[in-house]
Amino acid sequence: MESPFKADILKGKVALITGGGSGIGFEISTQFGKHGASIAIMGRRKQVLDSAVSTLQSLGIKAAGFEGDVRKPDDARRVVESTFKHFGQVDILVNAAAGNFLVSAEDLSPNGFKTVMDIDSVGTFTMCHEALKYLKKGAPGRGSTNGGLILNISATLHYTASWYQIHVSAAKAAVDATTRNLALEWGTDYDIRVNGIAPGPIGDTPGMSKLAPDEIESKARDYMPLYKLGERWDIAMAALYLASDAGKYVNGTTLIVDGGLWLSRPRHLPKEVVKQLSRAVEKRSREKPVGVPTSKL
Ligand code: COA
Repeated sequence: MESPFKADILKGKVALITGGGSGIGFEISTQFGKHGASIAIMGRRKQVLDSAVSTLQSLGIKAAGFEGDVRKPDDARRVVESTFKHFGQVDILVNAAAGNFLVSAEDLSPNGFKTVMDIDSVGTFTMCHEALKYLKKGAPGRGSTNGGLILNISATLHYTASWYQIHVSAAKAAVDATTRNLALEWGTDYDIRVNGIAPGPIGDTPGMSKLAPDEIESKARDYMPLYKLGERWDIAMAALYLASDAGKYVNGTTLIVDGGLWLSRPRHLPKEVVKQLSRAVEKRSREKPVGVPTSKL
């Protein structure tokens, strides 16, 4: 699908995207690149990185891949440094690396819980912390007028509660808190905007095939009326809005991009029944108003 944004809205920017070699991360890499940014991708798998970088380059995008695991502070530091050395500046950090699997709370080991916290929550903070010195207003390679931008990929799981996702719910709640707190502290001190995106179910992603195999997906519409698969493109467009000047007054928010899904409730009564019932109840209360003693009627 064509982007509705001008092709130069990220011209001259350098974006470092963790988990940028596959899924939503790769779509953000591609769209940021198509809109003028140079792209550094961080990921654990060399093969995935190499293939992502060559695809980006074939689209005329300046791109480099750096192997690393966001759980390892040394990797985080090295990749941020390499991005700066390679491109001469770092303007945007997108934390898209994530870990997930379905498991009941009682079957999840504390180490399984910790693994996802380490990737999603601690990894996000570690990357932000390492990138800070390049994102600050007046940092090497950037002017003294504006600070950079951080974008954290979150979820909606923790707004209520989600079956078999206690680890990710806890991890994304921490990510959202990190987004708001950094927006406050670094927005004030360094003019850095920190925002998030909470995607709904996005087709054709590793997350989707792990968390909603076909057996589950076909049942989802029964209890979630607004259930509709999104596309990676939808998330990338939201990211472009937040990263471009169009989002210059947006700080500390996590934009939900899920078609309203998280608000879904099963419909407990058909519309026609509600209409009849509602009128009948009203008629009854007119004939016998609630709270008025029968003796006064
Ligand atoms: N069910 C229950 N527990 C699981 C599990 C599952 N499906 N998969 C992993 N775990 C547990 C392991 O048993 C282990 O705990 P233990 O030591 O108490 O047994 C812990 O999680 C770590 O697992 P391990 O396989 O050693 O971790 P890893 O670092 O190799 O992999 C994962 C990390 C598990 C998050 C892996 O799925 C991953 O790399 N994911 C990245 C990609 C991804 O998930 N994308 C989707 C994004 S939405």
